[in-house]
Amino acid sequence: MQTLQVDLGERSYPIHIGQGLLTQSHLLRPHIHGKRAVTISNTTVAPLYLDSVQNALEGFTTSAHLMPDGEEYKTLDTCNTIFTHLLENKADRKTTLIALGGGVVGDMVGFAAAAYQRGVNFIQVPTTLLSMVDSSVGGKTGVNHPLGKNMIGAFHQPQCVIIDTDTLNTLPDRELSAGIAEVIKYGLIRDTEFLAWLDTHMAQLVGRDPEVLAEAIFRSCQHKAEVVAADEREEGERALLNLGHTFGHAIEAAMGYGNWLHGEAVAAGMVMAAEHSMLMGWITPAEVQWIRELLQRANLPIEPPSSMTGADFKQYMSVDKKVLDGSLRLVLLQKIGRAIVTTDFHEGALNQVLNREL
Ligand code: NAD
Ligand code: GLY
Repeated sequence: MQTLQVDLGERSYPIHIGQGLLTQSHLLRPHIHGKRAVTISNTTVAPLYLDSVQNALEGFTTSAHLMPDGEEYKTLDTCNTIFTHLLENKADRKTTLIALGGGVVGDMVGFAAAAYQRGVNFIQVPTTLLSMVDSSVGGKTGVNHPLGKNMIGAFHQPQCVIIDTDTLNTLPDRELSAGIAEVIKYGLIRDTEFLAWLDTHMAQLVGRDPEVLAEAIFRSCQHKAEVVAADEREEGERALLNLGHTFGHAIEAAMGYGNWLHGEAVAAGMVMAAEHSMLMGWITPAEVQWIRELLQRANLPIEPPSSMTGADFKQYMSVDKKVLDGSLRLVLLQKIGRAIVTTDFHEGALNQVLNREL
């Protein structure tokens, strides 16, 4: 097992990464401070892993709540079913919630934990690659609104993150690829050496080589932990983690939540950000092609949906969380391995990218 620390003063917490961790109850138990623990999962993940978590909670007062599976259920209405379960089970302020599942479960349970009785503890047990390398770490929680992705939410850090890499054995291939998009993101924004490593190991990563997967998860979590420790509330550097997300969130919302997976939309969005960076003269056409090929080798889409117009993109991008005082800020690549957030992009270049006039 490897352990990383997210360094946030009194709110610091560990990320444990390894095989078979769900059965190692000593990792979970010290982070449950009251007598009651409520595990929240969905109808796909619970039949696979709920028993392991509940067994690890022996001696606590426990209950479980299952939500329907899918990005389209990442809503305030679904969150309300969590609140109902907590109230029906007389959960008090010392209750700990355990989020067992992918990023959808993790984001919603985190948000419920932030809001229930103005804040209770929660633990992240991510079971998709994407949630292991990104969403379970850093305390961003929330739900979607029909008019915008992740628009209702809160910052609320977990007590710990337990990554059992064995759970990836049951993850569908398409979901694995979606997670690889976020792994590639860390390389593009801040680590050329990691990108080179990914270039060399992409076939093993897609083929689920356990050592390569563990290394990719560890290095990604290291990046995420460093960025979150430096800028917990996204006042600066953390915005770089959104490379491709402004375009990607527009794709997810416009296509109907759940039709494009988050990681797929981010992959196409990162290509659009790279193309925009090329039009700014910062990276070369050959480098854009290299990014496209790396994503393609991870079985990810490299073009936005052909049905989306420039106007569609603009509509959803106008409510992006990086819009400040009415000005859109974009994450672009100053070079491969170095991203920047800027308001100073050429509107004409953006229009070329959105209208696919390259
Ligand atoms: P997801 O939670 O929808 O999970 C993908 C699918 O895999 C679901 O059908 C799920 O039930 C299933 N699944 C999960 N674990 C499984 C397993 N071990 N075996 C078999 N099936 C399994 O999707 P995701 O990609 O994990 O997360 C995407 C969400 O995360 C999006 O809503 C996105 O906005 C959010 N996100 C949040 C942050 C953050 O910082 N909070 C960062 C990135 C993404
Ligand atoms: N996934 C973006 C962030 O955590 O900031």
